[in-house]
Amino acid sequence: MLRNFLIRSFLTVGLFASTWAYSVTDEVSYGNIRDVVSTHLHLELSVDFKAKQLTGYVEHQLNWQNKAANKLVLDTRDLTIEKVTFFSGDNWKQANFKLFPHDDVMGSKLSIDLAKQPDKVRIYYTTSPTASGLQWLTPVQTAGKKAPFMYSQSQAIHARSWIPVQDTPAMRVTYSAHIQTPKNLLAVMSADNSKNLNKKDGDYQFQMPQAIPPYLIAIGVGDLAYQSMSSQTGVYAEPSILASAVAEFDDTQAMIEANEKLYDEYRWGQYDLLILPPAFPFGGMENPRLSFITPTVIAGDKSLVNLIAHELAHSWSGNLVTNATWRDLWLNEGFTSYVENRVMEEVFGEERAVMEQWLGVASLKSDLADLPKNDTILNLPLNGRDPDDAFSNVPYVKGQLFLMYLEEKFGREKFDAFVKQYFNHFAFQSLTTAQFEAYLNKHLIEKHPGVVSKKKVHEWIHKPGMTADAPDPQSDAFAKVKQKLDSWLSGELAIDELKKNDWSVHEWLYFLEQLPEDLSKQNMVLLDNTFGLTKSSNSEISFAWYMQAINSDYWVVEQPLESYLSSIGRRKFIVPLYKALANHSPERKKWAEQIYKKARSGYHPLAQGSIDEIFIK
Ligand code: BES
Ligand code: ZN
Repeated sequence: MLRNFLIRSFLTVGLFASTWAYSVTDEVSYGNIRDVVSTHLHLELSVDFKAKQLTGYVEHQLNWQNKAANKLVLDTRDLTIEKVTFFSGDNWKQANFKLFPHDDVMGSKLSIDLAKQPDKVRIYYTTSPTASGLQWLTPVQTAGKKAPFMYSQSQAIHARSWIPVQDTPAMRVTYSAHIQTPKNLLAVMSADNSKNLNKKDGDYQFQMPQAIPPYLIAIGVGDLAYQSMSSQTGVYAEPSILASAVAEFDDTQAMIEANEKLYDEYRWGQYDLLILPPAFPFGGMENPRLSFITPTVIAGDKSLVNLIAHELAHSWSGNLVTNATWRDLWLNEGFTSYVENRVMEEVFGEERAVMEQWLGVASLKSDLADLPKNDTILNLPLNGRDPDDAFSNVPYVKGQLFLMYLEEKFGREKFDAFVKQYFNHFAFQSLTTAQFEAYLNKHLIEKHPGVVSKKKVHEWIHKPGMTADAPDPQSDAFAKVKQKLDSWLSGELAIDELKKNDWSVHEWLYFLEQLPEDLSKQNMVLLDNTFGLTKSSNSEISFAWYMQAINSDYWVVEQPLESYLSSIGRRKFIVPLYKALANHSPERKKWAEQIYKKARSGYHPLAQGSIDEIFIK
């Protein structure tokens, strides 16, 4: 069954389906996919921690689309290209190539003359020590403090900083790799890692037989150990945090099963997690077969495991059915946020799922208030910007609300069937928002007339802001917290009465979200003395508390905030904190700048970029 299914989907992909995607315009890629596409790439790389460089070659297998084409055009950024060869007849020959000047958003176009339309081309190259898609960590920045660590983060347009590739999600490649590292370090990739288990000889082989867009090619190298959690799931982490990670994430198999019940089988075989050092700039990254995860979600009580549900959900939305361009990011992130929440409901119950919806909507509302109007449109206009610079909660939460809206209108049964059919129909393909809209209209809107108009669909996808009848999730548990908070603020309830409540992390996050921005210092003292919030070890609670403390000028948090900023590199936390400090007063700005000076070298290039701006302005 599965085998037939796979063969069928490969045939579909190979023969028809993605060819039309090659006509998509990706404004942030130079790749000439209309003329020729790379269908498989092989990486032959060695990892040099001293020089902070990857060196070797990539071999592309080419599928020529246009008989008149005589060039292969690839994306690169800050790469040194040593030579290019192509396979002709029975030997490798040198090819002429031109590396164009650097563009701040897109990098450097690499144009290779290939008049004979060969099947294979090799590019020999070295990455830059400051490659935007790699982070090189010294032993001090790891849990074990003894070995260095490096990892890639290719989404959105950073694969080109470590692989010369047609760096657009409109195309897909299978890949293989041979990676050499110092002995006693383990390399892992978004691929079949099974050949390398139980060895640490510095010589590793990988196969990725399923075609994926280049932003999902990923590597991590460090002092890693592995522990399986079920026949299909496991964790790679530094030895000292492996056990706590396994305990935190042992619901992963149940999450896979919840997904499969809704949307058919998980198609990638193994699903592992790689726990990165705290410098990782994101919460998680859905690299296929091996999600990359921040250690800041290891809270000890599973309170933040929706992140795992999220990265896993990308195995359907994003990795299987992919946004064709970064203007269509909501197809990845909106669907994933929706599926994440459905899985959380299945595994942890409706009450928690609704609380997470509410918290998501709160962050969306604050973005909607701050963003330029056009950045609140789902089908996002990039206008030449780096997709990173247009990043917000809009594709995530507005996208999720749109799907919740459809679910509400059509009912779960019909909507679930539609989503399942959508994932199967577009499996291993990329699509644009326009294509999605056409598919939605045909297979849901027109199929059940009179429920939702096409005009309404159009408004959700192409208009800024929120539509009037958007879902508005309400949590009973949160309503109770709100009552308590209001009575405390009005003086009806003493802090000791508030103390009787044994709130979950989510209820605390709601409570902190609802505090008045200008809460008095006196009340901050009361809260802290009663609940020990400054001492919280939950990264989300600490973040919310520090933000409030900065606003309320409750500077008791100075020391712990300094260590938080110095040890965590997750952008979602540190960028708003630095911004709040810089906006508070010249004095706090100076304080923050000093911390940043010391911490900067430990942050990922992307985080450095965002924070540099705060202090240069
Ligand atoms: N794919 C994203 C991370 C990403 C998006 C990287 C765009 C680069 C460009 C990942 O799946 C994600 O959304 N992570 C969130 C998790 C959260 C929404 C549960 C994060 O990192 O905070
Ligand atoms: Zn995501």
